[in-house]
Amino acid sequence: MSNYKNLLEDLDDGILTISINRPEKLNALNSLTLSELKTSIEKAYDENAVSGIIITGASNKAFVAGADISELAALNDMNSRKFSERGQEIFALIENCHKPIIAVINGYALGGGCELAMACHIRIGTENAFFGQPEVSLGILPGFGGTQRLTHIVGKGKALELMMTGEMIGAEEALSVRLVNHLVATKEDGIEKAKEILNKILKNAPLSYGMVVNCVNTAYSNIEDGYQIEANSFASCCKSEDFKEGTAAFLEKRKPVFKGE
Ligand code: COA
Repeated sequence: MSNYKNLLEDLDDGILTISINRPEKLNALNSLTLSELKTSIEKAYDENAVSGIIITGASNKAFVAGADISELAALNDMNSRKFSERGQEIFALIENCHKPIIAVINGYALGGGCELAMACHIRIGTENAFFGQPEVSLGILPGFGGTQRLTHIVGKGKALELMMTGEMIGAEEALSVRLVNHLVATKEDGIEKAKEILNKILKNAPLSYGMVVNCVNTAYSNIEDGYQIEANSFASCCKSEDFKEGTAAFLEKRKPVFKGE
């Protein structure tokens, strides 16, 4: 595991927990924190010892309270597009990861924090979580993919309400609009729930659930034909050793041993 200034990493039984760790600034994403997050996720892509990932906030007050507003204040005509595209790129890396990534949202998830949570495959919120896209109150709009992902997740009407008012919603409402999959009492409960879900996923064939991520993401893309991507991915799975193993194990009434090949 690497040494980061603003991230903590813990690898336990194949599950890497990444905690955003700038508690004095409610874990706001400054450029160093974004770079460290990118490096951590890129390493996890290739690291065989990592099978699944949890992203959470260090401390119990915040998941991530947004992009760092002191850095936002310096954006101008020249650098603002690059800033947005860089954030989009890092969050796309999370969204498209072939290994499962679960957000445990333990407090404020605002602006870039809500966008980070939405880039993860599955979201678990704690009772003290708050969600919102307050960018309009700063004269900007969500720039790390939030306008797209929030619309996909909660639907057009609620997405417009949240992004145009900039108001926060609590954990109960987040559950009711499906912004989180599960609601738990504490961060510890959230980590336990995340590990339970990850362990269920990790019992399955890695190529298969990795391609499910790709197919589902394509369903939300206007660029590619999701049905074609699904058919291509299905055909690729059928060529794999894990496919032979999975079907054989079922027919032989035994548990499969998947190798990710
Ligand atoms: N960027 C930079 N610093 C931030 C931050 C952000 N997004 N969110 C919080 N902080 C800092 C505060 O400036 C403060 O720093 P200081 O102690 O050096 O003054 C520290 O974190 C604690 O925040 P504070 O506002 O004192 O806590 P609070 O409990 O009173 O309020 C929030 C919590 C989340 C409601 C409030 O911090 C907030 O509105 N943050 C901005 C949220 C936002 O607009 N995010 C989207 C950015 S695009």
